[in-house]
Amino acid sequence: MSERQKTHAAAAALDYIESGMTVGLGSGSTAEIFVRLLAERVKEGMAIKGVPTSEQTADLARDVGVPLVEVDHVDHIAVTIDGADEVDGRFQLIKGGGGRHLREKIIAKASDLMVVIVDESKLVSTLGAFPLPVEVDPFGFSISAKQIYDALCKAGSTRPDVQLRRKGDGLDPFITDGHNFILDCHCGAIPDPAEAALRLNAIPGVVEHGLFIDIARVVIVGEDDGARVMEL
Ligand code: A5P
Repeated sequence: MSERQKTHAAAAALDYIESGMTVGLGSGSTAEIFVRLLAERVKEGMAIKGVPTSEQTADLARDVGVPLVEVDHVDHIAVTIDGADEVDGRFQLIKGGGGRHLREKIIAKASDLMVVIVDESKLVSTLGAFPLPVEVDPFGFSISAKQIYDALCKAGSTRPDVQLRRKGDGLDPFITDGHNFILDCHCGAIPDPAEAALRLNAIPGVVEHGLFIDIARVVIVGEDDGARVMEL
């Protein structure tokens, strides 16, 4: 992971922002860099409203002076800028390393355009080396874990290891902004992400998984000396 590459990607994403827009603000370290850069534009007079995808991003936006709007007071989101944990050649993503993928997906899917900003380490030929986060209702989470295992096997992953995410202390479960648990699914490879997404969607205890299929239309890859913009 390179701060320099993340900064180049975040800076290039500013080209997608125009005064007057409502902008979805992603979560994670790359999205945070973007929020800080956006704050500089706001200070220079750019009039935008941000819709944060996590409490953490909302706190940062308030700190640096990016105006926010309540998600339920928004009728149109022009663009969302967000990071990702993995990106494949078809712009399919794994997100949720920070456990924010539910709100990230709600906002991204409500946006006219999702622009993903990543450093080069996030580009993969096959998704799945990064553990796939699945947000589940705490009620019956061990039942959901078994169903998730079966779903991922049927979608082509070999013996995925499904682990309850815990807080830094290693004891208590990690709790999402929506008060749910996260199951991290160590798959090694997810050969058919669209099939895996469909099967996970069918499990009652699954609130949302971190596979973003056919949502991102632009991927900006930060490099050491600039940024590469790829559009579908
Ligand atoms: C948050 O839940 C994630 O989806 C992040 O967008 C993702 O983990 C990327 O984060 P970094 O930019 O910190 O790598």
